[in-house]
Amino acid sequence: MNAKILTVANQKGGAGKTTVTMNLAGSMAARGYRVLVVDADPQGTAVQYAAQAEEGSFPARVVGLAAAGAKVHNELRKHIADNDIIIVDTPPSIDAVQPSSAMLVSDLIVVPVPPSPPDLWAVLPVRQKIEQISVTNETVVVRLLLNKFNSRRALAGPAMTALEEIGIPVLNRRLSALTAYQNAAARGVWVGELKAEAGDSRREVALLTDELLELMGLPAKNRVGEGQSHG
Ligand SMILES: Nc1ncnc2c1ncn2[C@@H]1O[C@H](COP(=O)(O)OP(=O)(O)OP(=O)(O)O)[C@@H](O)[C@H]1O
Ligand SMILES: [Mg+2]
Repeated sequence: MNAKILTVANQKGGAGKTTVTMNLAGSMAARGYRVLVVDADPQGTAVQYAAQAEEGSFPARVVGLAAAGAKVHNELRKHIADNDIIIVDTPPSIDAVQPSSAMLVSDLIVVPVPPSPPDLWAVLPVRQKIEQISVTNETVVVRLLLNKFNSRRALAGPAMTALEEIGIPVLNRRLSALTAYQNAAARGVWVGELKAEAGDSRREVALLTDELLELMGLPAKNRVGEGQSHG
C-alpha cells in the first residue's frame, strides 16, 4: 500500500509544526509503522531535532527535501512505496513553494495553532491556500490542531469567534503547553521516550495519534511508551 502523506503546515512561526511532526513521527513509528519525516523547511529544524538524539537514533528516518522547492511532491512520490506514513514539516510561510507542493499530494493536512486570537487570525491565509490546493487535491482532509493549550483556561469568546471564522474542523484532541515538548526536542526524542518528566504529554500524543490514524484510515495498533488512554 502507498504511504499516507500528512503535511503539517501553518503560516506563523513557532506554532508547533516541528514539535507536532516529530512527536507524531515517534509515536507512529513506535506503533510499528514505517515512518519517514520529510523536512521541507529550509531552516532544517526537523533534521536538527533528530540529530540531537544521543542513544540510538530517532525512531523515524528524517530527510531534508526543502531544496526540492516546488518539486517536493515529486520527491514525496519517490518515497511512498517504501513507507507507511510520510510526515512533512514545512516552513512558516504559506507563500513558500514547499508547503503548496507537499499539500498537493497529501492525504491529510494538520494546522497546529496556539488558541489565541492573533495566532488564529494568521490561519486565514493558510485556509485560502488550502482552498486553492483542494481544487486539484479533492480528497485531502484538513484539520486544525490546538497546540500549547491551557486546559485550565477555557477558550474565550474572541478565540471561539476566530475559530468559527476559519471554518476548518478542529481535532478533538489537543496538545497542552508542557515543558515536556521542549525537553524532548532538546534531547532529540519524542515524548514517549521521556520518563517522569513526560507528564501528560505521552497520553495526549497517544490520543492525537489515534485520532489522526483513524482520519487516514489506518489501524491504531499497539501503543508503546504512551501510557493508557481512556476516552
Ligand atoms: N505544546 C507545546 N508545549 C510547550 N512548548 C511547545 C509546544 N509546542 C511547541 N512548543 C515549543 O515552541 C517552540 C516552537 O515550536 P516549533 O519549533 O515546533 O514551532 P514551528 O511551527 O515548527 O516553528 P517554525 O515556524 O520556526 O518552524 C519550540 O521551542 C517548542 O519546543
Ligand atoms: Mg519548525
